[in-house]
Amino acid sequence: MNNIFPEVPAAHTGADPTMATLTVDGRSCEIPIVMGSEGERALDISALRSKTGLITLDPGFVNTGSCESAITFVDGERGILRYRGIPIEELAAHSTFVETAYLLINSTLPTKEELASFSELLTQHSLVHEDMIFFFRNYPPRAHPMGILASMVNSLSAFYPDINDPGEGINTTVARLLSKMRTLAAISYNISVGHHVIYPRHEYSYCANFLYMMFESPVKVYIIDEDIVRALNVFWILHADHEQNCSTTAVRLVGSARVNLYAAVSSGISALWGPLHGGANQAVMEMLQNICDSGGDIAPFIARAKDKNDPFRLMGFGHRVYKTHDPRVAIMEEICETALSKLKKNDPLLDIARKLRDATREDSYFIDHHLYPNVDFFSGIFMRAIRIPLNMFPVMFAIGRLPGWIAQWKESLDDPKRKLDRPRQIYTGPPARSYVPIEKRG
Ligand code: ACO
Repeated sequence: MNNIFPEVPAAHTGADPTMATLTVDGRSCEIPIVMGSEGERALDISALRSKTGLITLDPGFVNTGSCESAITFVDGERGILRYRGIPIEELAAHSTFVETAYLLINSTLPTKEELASFSELLTQHSLVHEDMIFFFRNYPPRAHPMGILASMVNSLSAFYPDINDPGEGINTTVARLLSKMRTLAAISYNISVGHHVIYPRHEYSYCANFLYMMFESPVKVYIIDEDIVRALNVFWILHADHEQNCSTTAVRLVGSARVNLYAAVSSGISALWGPLHGGANQAVMEMLQNICDSGGDIAPFIARAKDKNDPFRLMGFGHRVYKTHDPRVAIMEEICETALSKLKKNDPLLDIARKLRDATREDSYFIDHHLYPNVDFFSGIFMRAIRIPLNMFPVMFAIGRLPGWIAQWKESLDDPKRKLDRPRQIYTGPPARSYVPIEKRG
């Protein structure tokens, strides 16, 4: 929330607007106020402990800024999302996923030449080492693709160990990871269903290549549809970054120990897997399917979500930051419609999703708790329309989020003020006591 305290101009109070005063035990200390480029204000408490002996306590980091960042701006009250200053609506309407990735990682939109050479770099690095394919084959068939992907991305550091070689350059490592992530995802799907591995083709764009690797088969040619490719571009643009969310924080935290990019991103994939985060898209579809299978009546599900004694939540609802609406949802709903009409499909789950969205808009529980659909609410319907299997949903999110993880990792690495992330705690265990030998324990 921006400036939740009413602003009192310094001239009226005589106070320094860049400083706050904290009084503890009758003694006062000054705490600097940091201001972001969109007027967000924060107390810089980095010297609090040395000044007062106190730390701050904020479980879940609900009110804690972990860094200063110039990548993504989110205003949860006004439903605003911008990458490097550009509104998500404009990027979704005009950009491609590759161009957006370039923007996030390099901070400016590329020129034609820069975009061409970035795309060329991605094309060059799209294949994975053949030995990795043998590695894949040893996973049990029911292994979840997110677990496989996290392991395989970490394994890239073994197959491409030149990461710290200055000649290799960070751009090559970044392009290698961006390009191979999509290939690894498609291979994990093909192996999980016992199909041939399909290699990427140089003439296809990033998104078209992914669809081709997923759905081409020795017995059926996959016809690339440019409208579906465009929709996939938008889908991944919508996921490309979301400032300091759970998985990005994992990437930054692990990266703060100066691990390589592959290891940092692998931790992000693991965090994203959880149903409260990127795994929610899979959970939403399971919930919508349950509603459908039980006759389509949404009322009992809404009642359960409101019942404090029931752990059930409406999946795809609620967000730590967005409190009025998530600007990605309307665009996601649009691409669902595009894909369904283009593929001449009808999905009953879309009708159920819309009924849930409309009913909760009028319901005081959801209004009072600021619960609205989030990016995951409609995304599964789009993925189902283009034949992405359910357990690949979080993988699709991970491919989309990759440019953001890379940009955030790079920004934190380049930050001269960057320290090893190491939070403190308030200890609540037993006071000091002596070890009791086992024969004397009651
Ligand atoms: N359904 C019903 N009630 C909910 C829901 C929901 N989906 N989400 C939150 N609430 C209620 C909680 O029960 C709590 O109620 P109370 O204050 O009366 O006890 C209140 O809203 C606040 O909930 P918290 O869990 O404290 O809110 P927080 O900001 O920590 O959680 C989260 C955000 C995790 C996204 C939560 O809304 C949730 O679990 N949603 C469902 C899972 C989901 O869709 N996750 C994807 C998020 S987007 C993303 O990560 C890409």
